[in-house]
Amino acid sequence: MTLQVDENRVAPHPVLSRYYTDEAQRQRYLKSAFQETAEHYDSINNWMSFGSDRWYRRQALVRSGLQAGMRMADVGCGTGLVSGIAREIVGPSGHVFSIDPSLGMISEAVAGGRTIAPVVGKAEALPIADESVDFLCMGFALRHVADLEVTFREYLRLLKPGGKLLLMELTPPRKGFVRFCLKTHMRYVVPVLTRVFTGSKAATLLYEYCWDTFDMCVPPEKVVSTLAAVGFEGPSQHVVIRVFSEYTAHKPA
Ligand SMILES: C[S@@+](CC[C@H](N)C(=O)[O-])C[C@H]1O[C@@H](n2cnc3c(N)ncnc32)[C@H](O)[C@@H]1O
Repeated sequence: MTLQVDENRVAPHPVLSRYYTDEAQRQRYLKSAFQETAEHYDSINNWMSFGSDRWYRRQALVRSGLQAGMRMADVGCGTGLVSGIAREIVGPSGHVFSIDPSLGMISEAVAGGRTIAPVVGKAEALPIADESVDFLCMGFALRHVADLEVTFREYLRLLKPGGKLLLMELTPPRKGFVRFCLKTHMRYVVPVLTRVFTGSKAATLLYEYCWDTFDMCVPPEKVVSTLAAVGFEGPSQHVVIRVFSEYTAHKPA
C-alpha cells in the first residue's frame, strides 16, 4: 500500500533524515513503527497526557458539532480513542467508520470494543463512497499523510454537502516557557519513560519522531490555506490550552 506521490505535493513536514530519506522509506517506517507500538499506544497516550486524552477528544468533538444520529469518519483512527467517544455521541442511530493503514492499531481498536466498522486505508485514498458522512475527524495523524492537498480533496469527496471537518493536532509554540516545557516533556521525558515502561525501542523512537514531526510541521496558516484552496468553506484554527490546534471547516452546502 505504498502511495505514489507528486513531486509538487504539499508535504506536512520536510524530510526527517534521521528516520527516512525518501517517501517510500517514510511510509515503511511509519507502518512498522505503529505496528510495533500498537499494544503500548493507549497506556503511553494516557500517562503522557496526564489522563486527559479521552476528555480532550470528547470536548473537541462536541465543540466542533458532532451530534447524535450523524454518520462520521475517524481517519487515522489508531486504537480508536476518537472512534469510541464518537460512537457514544452519535448513538445507535449514527455510524462511525474507523479508518487506519496500520493493521496493528486497528486490531487494538476492534479488541477494545471502540469500533464495529474498521476500514484499512490511508487518508489520501479512502475506500469509502462519495458524500457518505456528515462529519470527518482526524486526530493527531495529519503529520503522517503524504500530501495535504490530496488528503483534503479526499475529505471533501467523502463529506456530504454542509458536512463538517475537524483536524486535531499539537502545535508547539515557536518560543517561550510553554515551548520549553512541552519540548522537555514530549522529546525527552516521554521517550525515556516509554523505554522504561515498555522496553520497546520502536515505541521510544516513534515518540521522538512524533515530536520532530510536531515541531517541523507546516505552519497553521498553511493548513488553513490548503483547506480553502481545495474548496472547504470557513477554514480556521482554534487553539486550546496554548498547544492544541483544532482546525475546522465545512463542505459548501
Ligand atoms: C498518533 S496516532 C493517532 C491515533 C488516534 N487518531 C488518536 O487520536 O489517538 C496516528 C495514526 O495515524 C495513522 N496513519 C499513518 N499514516 C496515515 C495515513 N496516510 N492516513 C491515515 N492514517 C495514517 C497511524 O497508523 C496511526 O494509527
